[in-house]
Formats: sequence, structure tokens, C-alpha cells
Amino acid sequence: MVRVHVPIAEQRDASYDILIGRGLLAGLEALLREHCPAARYAVITDSHVAKLYGEQIVARCHDAKLHVQLFEFPAGEWNKTRETWATLSDKLLAAQFARDSAVIALGGGVVGDVAGFVAATYLRGVPYVQVPTTLLAMIDSSIGGKTGVDVPAGKNLLGAFHQPRLVVADLDVLASLAPVQLAAGMAEAVKHGVIADAEYFAFLERERASVAAKDPEALEHLVRRSVEIKAEVVAADEREAGRRAILNFGHTVGHAIEATARFEVLHGEAVAIGMAYESRLAEALGVADRGTAERIGGLLKRYQLPLELPDTATVDGLGDGPVRTSQGDRGDAGRWKERLDRDGAGAGGAGGAGGLLDPVCPTGQVKIASGTDRRRELAKDRGFR
Ligand SMILES: NC(=O)c1ccc[n+]([C@@H]2O[C@H](COP(=O)([O-])OP(=O)(O)OC[C@H]3O[C@@H](n4cnc5c(N)ncnc54)[C@H](O)[C@@H]3O)[C@@H](O)[C@H]2O)c1
Ligand SMILES: [Zn+2]
Repeated sequence: MVRVHVPIAEQRDASYDILIGRGLLAGLEALLREHCPAARYAVITDSHVAKLYGEQIVARCHDAKLHVQLFEFPAGEWNKTRETWATLSDKLLAAQFARDSAVIALGGGVVGDVAGFVAATYLRGVPYVQVPTTLLAMIDSSIGGKTGVDVPAGKNLLGAFHQPRLVVADLDVLASLAPVQLAAGMAEAVKHGVIADAEYFAFLERERASVAAKDPEALEHLVRRSVEIKAEVVAADEREAGRRAILNFGHTVGHAIEATARFEVLHGEAVAIGMAYESRLAEALGVADRGTAERIGGLLKRYQLPLELPDTATVDGLGDGPVRTSQGDRGDAGRWKERLDRDGAGAGGAGGAGGLLDPVCPTGQVKIASGTDRRRELAKDRGFR
């Protein structure tokens, strides 16, 4: 036997800044030069955002003598596919983008995930900048370096961790965002409140009217606080080995719903339903304070988010087989609802359902309880039976 050792001490600094403010896109050229210098930039965006912001950004960059080219694909979650990834990659190759190029992901979470995956794989990886244009992308998907596409077997199953060089969240672009998309983003904001910050959760309860009216101060506080929470969690756990899993609260059930709803439910809506289910389950298992599910559900409802499955996608309907997501095999999802129905809220002690995330406090502190034993331990910690 021959043994060859390859000593690699990869000490790469992959830290980056997230800029939040108004009018930032007007100065994008300077930001690119400073944070992500490149010979050429491929601006990847979807068909909606191309018209709204893409064309003018490219024109301004040209004026500033940056070599920028726009690549767009049709908007919609159903286009977050291998095919879109392949088409975009082929277009960049045809346009002879070389290793000294960079990608700019301009759009919502769909664009961020696909363009990020193109950047992660193009010529074995080129740098990229996230320019999120939906609330959801600003406070969640643009941060943390998770990129990828959906495949028939499930959501986000092909992808890569690839950290951006910079994230530019220009709050002005939220002006054109449809109310239903703003609400979808609020699901992730509520999630941040639940998992990390009770005061933030209370702020979301208090400021609903100003958030819905897109009041500048309210939106700025919201984006800043959510970004701080997400950044703090991913910095502690870049590859999702431990603590980062709390960000999946609501997503176990949420991804299963998305997988069966055939795009009738937005990601944020599915997460809202997921949080409503998972918090009820946590209460039923006795690891969440009584009233947790009601308070979370109440807030989601106030932001016009659904709490129940649409007729087109029942969790029961998932009972045919295991549901796979990038967070792993979730077992027989069909039993979740059955278990909830059987136990009723607050009955407790049902056990099972490994891998769900359980809020153990009303808000502001979620611990990860995977597996029944761990869950019981947490329940005991908190004075439950
Ligand atoms: N990578 C991650 O960590 C992560 C985290 C959360 C969600 N996601 C992914 O994000 C995706 C959802 O993202 P999304 O909710 O932003 O959806 P999206 O990207 O589909 O955007 C929603 C719609 O809004 C349009 N739009 C975007 N910006 C606009 C603007 N400023 N004004 C008007 N319209 C605008 C888009 O064209 C699209 O039609 C899902 O695929 C989800 O899996 C990824
Ligand atoms: Zn999400």
C-alpha cells in the first residue's frame, strides 16, 4: 500500500459585508470595484427584475466603464432548475466569460440560488455579489452562501455552499414588490423572531401596520435585525453542522408542502404553514410553552400568511413515501398530521417525529430537539413533565 498525505490547511477568509440602505443601487459600480473587482460581470436576473432594475443597472455600469452583460431567465420558482442553470452556464461560456469574471445575482431568492450556483460551478467557481430585490432574499436567502436548484426528487437537492463577496440590499426596490411577496418575506422575519429574539418578535407584532405600509423606518429596522440574526447564526456554523439548523424552523413541513403544492404556494407561505404545524406539534409534545403556537399563528395571520394547508397539498397526501429535502430524509410526513390530530394541542408525550425543530420558549429561544430523547431532555430542562 502506498499512502500519500495531502496536507491542506485551508485558511481562506470568506467573510463579507452586507450593506443595507436606500439608493445603494445608484452607487453599485463603485461597490463592485471595491468589493468584487473583475474584468467582466455577468448580471443574472429574472424576466421581471430585468425590466424593473436590470437594464438600468447595466446601462449605468457601462457608463462607468465596467464590462457588464445581462442574462435573464423567466421568473418563477418552477424555473429554479438544472435546465436554467445549464442554459445560463452555456450562455456565459458562449460569451467567453473567463476566470477573472464575476457574477451578480440580481433578484429574489430564485435568482440568488440559481445565479449563486452558476457562480459556484462556472469554471470551478467565480466570485459573486448578491443584490437581493425581495424582502425574503434581503433577510434570508442572500445571506449564508447556500446556492442550488430544485429537482424532481425535492427542493434544493443539488447545490453548493458558495459565499458571496458582498450583499447589497437597497430598500428602495421593495417599493415595487407585490404585497403577497412582502408577506412571504415576513414569514422568514417571524421565524427569526421565534428562533432568536423575543423583542424582535414583539416589534413585528407591534409594527404590523407600518410594515405592511412599507414605512421606511420600520422596513429598515426589520431588514437590519433579521440580517443580524441570520448573519450571526451562519457565521457560527458556515456549513450547517449544528446551530444553523435552527434556521430550518418551519421548513421541514414547509418543504414537504412546496414539494406537493406544485408551485401554488410560495416558499414563504409554505414556511408559515410549516411554522404553524411545527409549533403545534412542539406544544403537543410538551417541549413548547402553552400558547406558543397561538402567538406564532396569530402573528402570521396578521401578516396575511396562511396557517393551514391549501386543498391542493395535504400533508396526508405525502404519506406515500419518505419526503426528502436538503435537510435530510424526513421520514413519513403523512404521520405528522395524524399525530397532531391524535394528541391534540397540549396533550404532550407523543414522542417520535425525529428531526423537527421545536420552539421551547414563546419566542426568542429555540433549541434543536432531534429525536425523542433529546426532546424529553429539553422538556425536562424547562420544567415540563
Ligand atoms: N439560499 C437560501 O439560504 C434560501 C433561503 C430562503 C429561501 N430560499 C429560496 O428562495 C426562493 C424564494 O425566493 P423569493 O421569495 O424571493 O421568490 P422569487 O425570487 O421567485 O421572487 C418572487 C417574485 O417577485 C419578483 N420580484 C423580485 N424582486 C422584485 C421587486 N423588487 N419588485 C417587484 N417584483 C420583484 C420576482 O420576479 C418573482 O416573480 C425559494 O426558491 C427558496 O427555496 C433560499
Ligand atoms: Zn426559507
